[in-house]
Amino acid sequence: MSSKIQNKRITLAWTGASGAPYGLRLLESLLAADYQVYLLVSSAARVVLATEHGLKLPSGPDAAKKALVEHLGCDASKLEVCGKEDWFSPVASGSAAPKQMVVCPCSAGTLASVAHGMSDNLLERAADVVLKERGQLLLVVRETPFSTLHLENMLKLSKMGVTIMPAAPGFYHQPESIEDLVDFMVARILDHLGVEQGLVPRWGYDQRQ
Ligand SMILES: Cc1cc2nc3c(=O)[nH]c(=O)nc-3n(C[C@H](O)[C@H](O)[C@H](O)COP(=O)(O)O)c2cc1C
Repeated sequence: MSSKIQNKRITLAWTGASGAPYGLRLLESLLAADYQVYLLVSSAARVVLATEHGLKLPSGPDAAKKALVEHLGCDASKLEVCGKEDWFSPVASGSAAPKQMVVCPCSAGTLASVAHGMSDNLLERAADVVLKERGQLLLVVRETPFSTLHLENMLKLSKMGVTIMPAAPGFYHQPESIEDLVDFMVARILDHLGVEQGLVPRWGYDQRQ
């Protein structure tokens, strides 16, 4: 690997919360914005992806990458799908990991693991690395209602600088489709990451009437 690490790198994790379309759209948007994306997919996320989107993602990283590239019709060169125990992945070490990471969608289970620094698989380790390196971590948590435990875990992480972004799309952009609701959430995530986006008109600028 070249010793010069480029800036536009990000870790994206999909976990087993409802909201697979958010994760797919976010991946598509980041690749379109020319980001190098390290994608981590939990076993439960695969089940949710198949249930909600009809996309059966193979468990092997190379086969999963091939399936995603075919599905999204995106450029394969900037996507790296990482294995659950690929401890040699750049995301496993503070010396090489991207400074930004998004877990979208984020299950209550992964929220708890991250809040307690479990680092039991590459996804949890990657989040732990971003925390210790004082990078930017966004958790798009999806559960309802929230238990006190969920709320405590979110508060704990929020106090450490983590952005908690519940998957809670607004309706003030007058959505006409599920895609519009998905784009609302993805646009807010991209805004927080500082990624240029034109998915949803900005409040007070060019809103539809
Ligand atoms: C179709 C489906 C939808 C689910 N939705 C949620 C959800 O919205 N939020 C959540 O916290 N867990 C949800 N779960 C349960 C998680 O997938 C489960 O707790 C899993 O262990 C999470 O593991 P992970 O965090 O490693 O992905 C769902 C499971 C399935 C199969």
